[in-house]
Amino acid sequence: MMSGDSTSIVIFGGTGDLAQRKLVPALFELAYRGRVPDNLRIVCFARSDYTSETYRDFMWNKVSEFRDLAAHRDDWHAFAKRIHYIRGNLSEPDGLGILKRGLQALDGGAESPANWLFYLSIAPWLFEPALRNMAAHGLADETNGWRRVVIEKPFGHDLTSAVALDNLVGQVFDENQVYRIDHYLGKHMVQNLLVFRFANAIFEPIWNRNYIDNVQITVAESITVEDRGSYYDESGVVRDMVQNHLLQLLTLVAMEPPNIADSESLRNKKVEVLEAIRRLDGFGMARNSVRGQYDGYLAEKGVPQDSITPTYAALRLYVDNWRWRDVPFYLRTGKAMAEKVSEIVIEFQKPPHSMFPSTPDEDIPSNLLRLSLQPNEGIHLGFQTKSPDTDIGSMEATNLEFHYQSAFRDLSIPEDYERLLQDALLGDASLFIRNDHIEEAWKLVDPLIEAWTDRVASPLHVYSPGSWGPAEGDNLLAQDGRSWWRRD
Ligand code: BG6
Repeated sequence: MMSGDSTSIVIFGGTGDLAQRKLVPALFELAYRGRVPDNLRIVCFARSDYTSETYRDFMWNKVSEFRDLAAHRDDWHAFAKRIHYIRGNLSEPDGLGILKRGLQALDGGAESPANWLFYLSIAPWLFEPALRNMAAHGLADETNGWRRVVIEKPFGHDLTSAVALDNLVGQVFDENQVYRIDHYLGKHMVQNLLVFRFANAIFEPIWNRNYIDNVQITVAESITVEDRGSYYDESGVVRDMVQNHLLQLLTLVAMEPPNIADSESLRNKKVEVLEAIRRLDGFGMARNSVRGQYDGYLAEKGVPQDSITPTYAALRLYVDNWRWRDVPFYLRTGKAMAEKVSEIVIEFQKPPHSMFPSTPDEDIPSNLLRLSLQPNEGIHLGFQTKSPDTDIGSMEATNLEFHYQSAFRDLSIPEDYERLLQDALLGDASLFIRNDHIEEAWKLVDPLIEAWTDRVASPLHVYSPGSWGPAEGDNLLAQDGRSWWRRD
């Protein structure tokens, strides 16, 4: 258990969806496991009319909707004492003055040493007033304790707005106070990717263009846009998933080994990957991408009836460096797809020659390394095995498998936000994103979004909910004589 000065996590948007579904449950879990400072407070700041008491009841009801808390009533009561509610409007000149005075009162006075972690879980258009008012009220001033800010995506809408936002953040906070979050980096298998690659000597020598044929990254969701239609329609799949989560996964697969796993070294290597991704003109973008929209999207609440916002994307990217030159990275993600699965498949090159007369070259499949992020975190290595009691050349594809659940029965895997909140409290930014990464990612996706405004070169393909996306997404690989490994 950690101790020290009193520490408050201040959630801007304390009544919002993220606070209910992720942040408060994650903090409850961390507190339950004794992984937060004894004197940690959770201060929720929002406009609704709650007291701390009524807000605790509201949160209990909300959190209970998403997880079964019945057996944890006492633990919740102990945890709820940490929760406080301060009512105010962050856009009003004194809104954050109210917050500051409220925090100081909880800390025992304006001079008392105390740390404050501000979590901006608010709509994108509130970032600017929030940051300006934070500056006006000196909320970044570290005279009496550390001050940090966690910023949720979307970090900008394009490169220009991301740079503008970053300039504003930079006027208020020093870079070492800023934690830009991508919850995919909190996923256990994402972190394990670093250990898998760089703490095992046997994979790194073959982790390159000499042995790897292609890499496939699938982040499929079975849910539709549900009640987020109006947000989603402004954003679309590229801003919602590709610019952040999928490119994060790609950088972790492709990065060079850093000398040491500290936040700057790790982040430098990831940015180098983004910089090396081949830039394409509009025609090239159209040829290397497919966009789709699920049938029924236009009937979703908040979605205009003539919307051309894509809910599915498939891309072929190349990382132009010594390790990866000409190895295709196929990325795909979408809503309303066949299943919820996030997986990275490394397809190795086939054996150069079959010595088995009964099995021609083309009948020997490639070795596949599948890294399953969710569900059922684990790793599968596929290889050929001789079938029993048959002639020498008859073989079957089999798997070496590792699953977290069975390998670590006594240990549960923390939720994404648990890990990330804990790191932000500890001041470890390794799993948070640096501004240059965000800007490089926008430099890559802005031209794609632009290319997709050409409806002739990049038609919008409608796909059936519950499928693996439009057939054109499969054709993208078929053009190269390949196919997605995760399919019907
Ligand atoms: C969010 C997107 O960042 O990630 C959502 O805004 C998406 O649209 C979610 O559903 C997926 O996260 P996960 O952890 O469920 O794969």
